[in-house]
Amino acid sequence: MRALIEELCGVFGPSGQEERIREVISGQLDGLVDEMRTDRLGNLIGVKRPTVSSEGGKRIMLAAHMDEIGVMVTHVDAQGFCRFTTIGGVLMNSLIGSRVHFANGVEGAFGMEGSPLARERPTPQKLFLDVGADSKEDAQVQVGDTAVFRSSFGEVGDRLFAANLDDRIGCAVLIQTLRELESSPHEILAVFTVQEEVGVRGATTAGYGLEPEIILAIDVTATGDFPQATPMEVALGKGAAIKVMDRRMIAHPKVRGWLEDTAQAFDIPYQLEVLEFGSTDAAAVQVSRAGVPAGTVSIPCRYVHSPSQVADYNDALGAVRLLVNALSGEYPS
Ligand code: CO
Ligand code: ZN
Repeated sequence: MRALIEELCGVFGPSGQEERIREVISGQLDGLVDEMRTDRLGNLIGVKRPTVSSEGGKRIMLAAHMDEIGVMVTHVDAQGFCRFTTIGGVLMNSLIGSRVHFANGVEGAFGMEGSPLARERPTPQKLFLDVGADSKEDAQVQVGDTAVFRSSFGEVGDRLFAANLDDRIGCAVLIQTLRELESSPHEILAVFTVQEEVGVRGATTAGYGLEPEIILAIDVTATGDFPQATPMEVALGKGAAIKVMDRRMIAHPKVRGWLEDTAQAFDIPYQLEVLEFGSTDAAAVQVSRAGVPAGTVSIPCRYVHSPSQVADYNDALGAVRLLVNALSGEYPS
């Protein structure tokens, strides 16, 4: 799975432009699911039918989002400098010094009006993108073009560094779960969603269309394990996190209990997550139609939404073990 995480992190896919990452993931799903399709909004749906029939078998939607945060060009000036707006929760403080990548291969560096050595806090109004052009005519990007954050994929021991572990590491966990799941009483709807970062839009329509009985999102979560961090129990390397609550979703006690009981039964280390900001695809599906019991398996990740996100590979492996064992058995009655 390690190579898979690196591969997925290298593929362009800002919200609304998930074609390339969908192509790569659908190649990975080939042979792992009984049926595969792309819905009208662009969500990639893989269906794995139950291999054993059982009373405890459910229609379970697993969602990992394919899209990533980025920027969109709003204006190109006469000298070829671009003004931009953000796609998703981009952190202004992280822009100076980071690099973006356009679909056509053009690179972009952020600059700020005023003295290059100024220490003032960057504001969206004062920032611009340098795309290597000398004039508007010369610029190889135009209004509406989007770019993603890129830094080279890095590894130190089991720690992984990339700009978009959110949520490519979750996509890899979902693919790996399908690889390892040999038998299951459940109908598994593996959904690689679009436009999560701009408000869980893909999951909203996929959840409505698929009518699952249970929704589990697979996404990254923040941690409280760095200097002076806002207190939070989750730490890198201590296992996958089972979500209790985030800003928009309270996990269904039975779903959460199912995951906790599975972790305990199979000696899988886990942590309980209460996230005071942000949410996941599960929030959208939970309130679709007449309501869907929801839970989330999270991969702890430091510096989420910055261009250098850090996660621990063992936590991703743990998330796979948790999902495979839970899905192999029955849902508690
Ligand atoms: Co995110
Ligand atoms: Zn995410």
